Amino acid sequence: MELRSAQWFGKRDRDGFIHRSWMRAEGFAPDVFDGRPVIGICNSWSELTSCNVHLRRVAEAVKRGVWEAGGFPLEFPTISLGETYMRPTTMMFRNLMSMDVEESIRANPVDGVVLLSGCDKTTPAQLMGAASVDLPAIMVTGGPMLNGKFQGGDIGSGTMVWQFSEDVRAGRMTWAEFFDAEAGQSRSNGHCMTMGTASTMASMAEALGIAPTGNAAIPAVDSRRYALAQLAGRRIVAMVHEDLRMSKILTRQAFENAIRVNAAIGGSTNAVIHLLAIAGRIGVPLELDDFDRLGRDLPLLVDLQPSGRFLMEDFYYAGGVPAVVRELGERLHRDALTVNGTTIGEATAEAPCWNREVIRTFDAPVRERAGIAVLRGNLAPSGAVIKPSAATPSLLTHRGRAVVFETIEDFKARIDDPDLDVDASCVLVLKGAGPRGYPGMPETGNMPLPPKVLATGVTDMVRISDARMSGTAYGTVVLHTSPEAAVGGTLALVRNGDPIELDVPNRRLTLAIDDAELARRRAAWTPAPPEFARGYANLYTQHVLGAERGADFDFLVGGSGSAVAREMH
Ligand code: FES
Ligand code: MG
Repeated sequence: MELRSAQWFGKRDRDGFIHRSWMRAEGFAPDVFDGRPVIGICNSWSELTSCNVHLRRVAEAVKRGVWEAGGFPLEFPTISLGETYMRPTTMMFRNLMSMDVEESIRANPVDGVVLLSGCDKTTPAQLMGAASVDLPAIMVTGGPMLNGKFQGGDIGSGTMVWQFSEDVRAGRMTWAEFFDAEAGQSRSNGHCMTMGTASTMASMAEALGIAPTGNAAIPAVDSRRYALAQLAGRRIVAMVHEDLRMSKILTRQAFENAIRVNAAIGGSTNAVIHLLAIAGRIGVPLELDDFDRLGRDLPLLVDLQPSGRFLMEDFYYAGGVPAVVRELGERLHRDALTVNGTTIGEATAEAPCWNREVIRTFDAPVRERAGIAVLRGNLAPSGAVIKPSAATPSLLTHRGRAVVFETIEDFKARIDDPDLDVDASCVLVLKGAGPRGYPGMPETGNMPLPPKVLATGVTDMVRISDARMSGTAYGTVVLHTSPEAAVGGTLALVRNGDPIELDVPNRRLTLAIDDAELARRRAAWTPAPPEFARGYANLYTQHVLGAERGADFDFLVGGSGSAVAREMH
């Protein structure tokens, strides 16, 4: 079988001279051009993505494996997305990164690719981009940080910051303690070690079969991550010889497995958006309602923050995703193929669980019902989501009057005002935080509570928006409301004092005003004029799809394959 890289390095002509000669400038022996698989190592390393900063070292381990197996590894960078730095939100740049990944793979002489990701959006961006090329690919994530430590106990990335900032606001924590917690939380390389979006997406990559079995939970600094990376380097060379492309792994069955595993691990709501987008790229039909239908009867098996108590380091020592997959048993498609070359059932058949506090059995779960609930109703005709396992049970059925904020800036300006007309039974409504409206759909959905409500000891209220929520956050928070306010969704029409009904058991979200009044408001609504005359923000706001379609760009859905383009001279 002649590989696609031979169309660069195997040519006996002027163009072949050019392709080989400039590569020889890097000092490789001539036999790298003997027709062996060229393996791209797609690296999202960046000092502006602190969670991924060790990925150059992971790449070195991958290269060892590629060389050992007779391949030719070439590492390349792409844009990277640092969750805690990029404004207005990394989500706005996920599609841009996916384009970089896709075009970098297709345009270059590579036959297979190892994807190195870590921080939240880097994982879906790489999977989306690579899926649109559909070469053989393995994902190796960078792994979570070690457990955070503070005042003798463990603290989880992100999850505790929401609590600490409320504690400072309520006078229960000093600023000095707050700064100590900052240092103790992030004490090693790696991504957030709660079951936030990064850990969730690493687990999704493993459940999809596109990351090696056991990959997700190994801490970033554990030597076994580097051994796994080396094995992945060996394996990708074999996958090129087997022509085991992404589309043979990312099947409908694989996505159904991922959705079920996401329920059992208490994964982030962000997985909904990312899995929908990845499925769109590889051509697998997947809908918002699949998440509810496939996950709603599953119990929460993994006791990790933000839904539970433990952290990723504990999850790894307890057995990680393989132990969860084994526990899910026949509820998963056990014959789904993985990058290991075996099925996910075979790969996890003997997976041990070493700690039943962290990974529970079906008979003694953390919570009976997990999964993500998809809500419908006049307030969300195209859907909205809530993670019941992170919510207050008594608020899952609730009627309250709306307290409306037109933007997050409006919210921040007024929420601390003692005169704000709000009590614990109200529903906080935030508009303008959807994909098009913000732009980029930021993680502003878990709005902090008003101090005067906090002062009464109340810690949760119903909140509704078209935003996302950090995977490390919790609360009775309705997210991804679609259509979003910026395109004239019902959310845009909510006014202060309107009654809102949340009924999670029946999957309803209702603005309880009469239809004639709603129609009057809709007729009077006008869209804001376009905000961005040029640049990426302009492209983004013109082409981004709704949350229920994964917030991908309309022109990026699907793939363009791996055909080699025309010569450049
Ligand atoms: Fe990078 Fe949480 S900020 S994973
Ligand atoms: Mg996050």
